[in-house]
Formats: sequence, C-alpha cells, structure tokens
Amino acid sequence: MKTKIERYHWRHYFGGVAVILLILQFLTGIFLALFYQPDLQQAYASVQSLYRGLNIGAWIRDSHRWLAFFIFAAIVVHVARSLFRKDFLNYQCRISWLTGGLLIPPILALLVTGFILPWEWKAYWFMEMVPNYLGSVPLAGPVLKAFLIDAFTLSRNFVAHAVILPVITYILIDFHILAVLRKRKAGIGKYIAKHAVISVPFFVAIAALAIYIPMPTEDPDVIPMPLEGTYLPAPEWYILFLLRPFMSFEAPMAAFLGIGLPLTVLIILILLPFFFRGSNKRRGDAEIGSWPYSSLLSRPGRKHGKIKLAGVVVSFVIVFVAAMPFGLLYVETRESPTLGCNSCHNVSMGARMGTPPKAFKDRNTTPLVDDSQWMVEHWFYPQVAW
Ligand code: HEC
Repeated sequence: MKTKIERYHWRHYFGGVAVILLILQFLTGIFLALFYQPDLQQAYASVQSLYRGLNIGAWIRDSHRWLAFFIFAAIVVHVARSLFRKDFLNYQCRISWLTGGLLIPPILALLVTGFILPWEWKAYWFMEMVPNYLGSVPLAGPVLKAFLIDAFTLSRNFVAHAVILPVITYILIDFHILAVLRKRKAGIGKYIAKHAVISVPFFVAIAALAIYIPMPTEDPDVIPMPLEGTYLPAPEWYILFLLRPFMSFEAPMAAFLGIGLPLTVLIILILLPFFFRGSNKRRGDAEIGSWPYSSLLSRPGRKHGKIKLAGVVVSFVIVFVAAMPFGLLYVETRESPTLGCNSCHNVSMGARMGTPPKAFKDRNTTPLVDDSQWMVEHWFYPQVAW
C-alpha cells in the first residue's frame, strides 16, 4: 500500500509556475498576433502602432517579453530542483525527464524567433547572427547556414513562432506533465488552480516590470549620441551569452563554447536516467509513488534532522541558481546602451541607416554581417566596431 505524504516546499512549485506563465504567454501572444504584420516593410510599423496607439497593447507586449524571461527563470529553478531531488534515479520519471530536456530547445527557439519579429535593427542583427552561429558547427554548419539564410522570411519566422513551436511545446508538455496529471484523481484543474495561486507574486512582478521597464526600441524624440543611450534591461537579451564567445574566440573555440558545450550539457542531462538505470532498484520502486509525488514521500531510512540541514543547503543553492538568470540579464544588457542602435540607425540618418537593408541576406553587398566577431562586437561596442 502506498502512503502519500505530501511535503510542501517552495522549491517544488517552479515547474507548475512555468506552466501557468506559459498559458499567460499563449494568451498575450494571441493578442499580439492580432496586430502583427509579418512583412519586412510593415512589421516594425505594426508593432510600433500597437505600442503607441494602445496603452493596453504596449503593456501586453512588454508583459509578453517579461513573461518569457520569468518562464526561463522558473525553468532554471525547476531543473535545479529536479537534479537535487534526483528525479533521474526514478525510472518511472524517465518520460518526464526526457521530455523536460527536449523542451529546452523549442523554448529557446521561441525566444529567438520572437526576438526577430519586430524587424528593427536588433531583430535584423539577430536574424543575420543565427546562421553565423549555427554555421560554425563542424561538418553540418555550412549547409545549415545556407539553408537558414535561404529559408528565412518574416512570415515563416512568424509561423514558426506562433504555430509550429507552440504546438511542439504543447505536445512535449503533455507528455511531460499533463499525461501524469490526467491519471490523478484531482486532475489538471486542481494542479492549475494551485499553481495559479502560487504564481501570484510572479504576476505582480511581471505586470510591474512591464510598466516600469518597457521595450527600448522606440526611436527617441531626441536622438542620443551612441554612448548616451539609457541602460534599460532588455529581458530577452540573456540569450546573447551563447553568442559572446564569438567576440573573443576564433571559429572552432567559439563554436565549442557557444554551441558544443551547452549542447553536451543538455544531452548529458537528458540521458541521466539511462546512465543510472541500475540504481533504481536500490531505492525500492515499490515504495515510490507515481511521479511527482515520489520524493514528496517521506523516505524510509532517513533521519529527519539530516534532511532539514540538507534542505537548507539545497535551498541556498537553488536561490543562487534562481539569481543566475537575473545576473545574465544584467551582464548582457549593461554594456550596450539599449537605445544605442537607434542613436546611429535612425531615419534621420537617411534610409540606408534608418531601416534594415532590403538586401539583408546578401552577404556580397553587406559582407560585415558574415563576420561573426564584428557582429558581436558591433552589438556590445557599436561606438568602437562600425
Ligand atoms: C556608432 C553608431 C552605431 C551604433 C550605435 C550602431 N550601429 Fe550598426 N552600424 C553602424 C554603421 C556605420 C554601420 C555600417 C558599417 C559598414 O557598412 O561599414 C552599421 C552596420 C550595422 C549592421 C550591418 C549591416 C550593414 O548594413 O552593414 C548591423 C546588422 C547593425 N549595424 C546592427 C546594429 C545594432 C543591432 C545596433 C545596436 C546594438 C547597432 N547596429 C548600433 C553604426 C552604428
């Protein structure tokens, strides 16, 4: 007979918080899609007119951006907690573990495609940087790069962001958690209700950040000098940490640090349950209930005092891990004045500098975009590399 003793702890709720925030992300996304025009000439204008014309529209757009950041932060904590809880040792968890790892690439792809949608200079920079980034992969790189440059259109990017990636994400989440919840008596409703309540502080933080730290893409009325831009945190920029190595290293090393290493860590994480297959028996599968209650059970043979001390240590580490996305946000935003792009690339500098070039994929007319090092330097130090 299974005795399920639920152990409540703040650390265990971040996966559910991510689910709730994803639902909100979906709803705000539907709203934004109603106004967006996936067209090179119209995209920026459509985003700006929503942003300027409708107060609630601006707030929803900025909420969509901050939601994306908090989803990332919640996932980071959730992964740390799952590692500490050693969910990978529980063979019954392996589907959840596997789908959890597989969820990370589509979530990051959502960030990347979302970054490109507004099609101002930052979006254009990013669109050119993605093929450079994947192009540095050994062997497959050049083909991948040519394909991405060839295949990119704003409407395809929009379809990927608003349809394909959300569907993939939903399917994986279904295997990851919804399938497990459906088997429980309380079901999905209780789970959603419980986590919605726990997510209230996140709602408040996101709503406030969306008001006080909005998107800095607007062409300012008084155009600043390159170094006069305001340093506003842009919550989607943490992804730049994957591109940083391309500033300081040559192709093979940069590709290793920016792609090889993160990918290896992800693959090892995903495969953990398979490395440890043998050790399940020792933990006695019979006593462990179906995930995710498994470790909420009081485990026989453990002294309570010890659990408490370990718990405090784990909590500290998890708080530290939770602070990491905020550190990334600070580090990646601090150097580049967020209005820096507009200070040189604005309409008063003429059409050439005002709008992303029409020949944006043509590396013969704009050879600099092929130079990853120049591109990343120009992002962080545009006043130096131009
Ligand atoms: C100090 C002024 C200045 C700032 C600030 C600036 N740029 Fe540039 N940027 C230039 C100039 C000048 C060029 C053209 C370089 C050339 O073609 O020789 C350029 C070129 C580019 C290019 C290459 C495409 C092309 O037409 O050559 C991209 C992409 C780009 N900038 C993106 C950005 C982004 C994104 C930002 C903000 C992070 C930014 N720039 C900030 C001056 C600036």
